[in-house]
Amino acid sequence: MSDDRTEPLRKIKDEVIALKKSPLYAERVKNKVFPVIGEGSHHAHIMFIGEAPGKNEAATGRPFVGAAGKLLDEMLESVGIHRPDVYITNIVKDRPPMNRDPLPEEITAYGPFLDRQIDIIRPAVIATLGRFSMDYVMRAFGLQDQLKSISQMHGKEFTAKTSYGTVTIIPLYHPAATIYNRSLKDTLAEDFKVLKKYK
Ligand code: URA
Repeated sequence: MSDDRTEPLRKIKDEVIALKKSPLYAERVKNKVFPVIGEGSHHAHIMFIGEAPGKNEAATGRPFVGAAGKLLDEMLESVGIHRPDVYITNIVKDRPPMNRDPLPEEITAYGPFLDRQIDIIRPAVIATLGRFSMDYVMRAFGLQDQLKSISQMHGKEFTAKTSYGTVTIIPLYHPAATIYNRSLKDTLAEDFKVLKKYK
């Protein structure tokens, strides 16, 4: 069976670029920035899902390249995971103005693209970064009954059945939340150790 993942992922990229009905499209054009679709291995075992691009990400079209990205890189390195071996994306593909939280209508507009990215890449593990992606992914896999606050869920493993097999969802704190919080950073580093067995 042919397993071309590049072409369907490219199609998603083309569709997001052309997504004029998106609530954030006008901002993208006004600021002359890019949508951030995702990057990494199309055969990744681990998929990281953040919230939405920040300033540096929108300027480059790449996920997690700013301060939060540096932290993510540090965490990956600490557990010996090579960034190009994983896939990194966000729920919302365009930058919300002033880095505000994504609005429900923005999550609704971009969520279906994330669902398709998951179906194409078929990761064994989805590590969510922050509460928005934890909430979205748990609901997407029918695990809404197990949703609690991120302080109760971080670092734990939740399993769900998918069309392609079992997926393990591991909620993690958002790296940006740990920039000025040493103890949260230590917690994030500890939680990353759970990913070791999946690399
Ligand atoms: N924060 C996110 O959630 N995603 C990025 O790509 C960068 C910062």
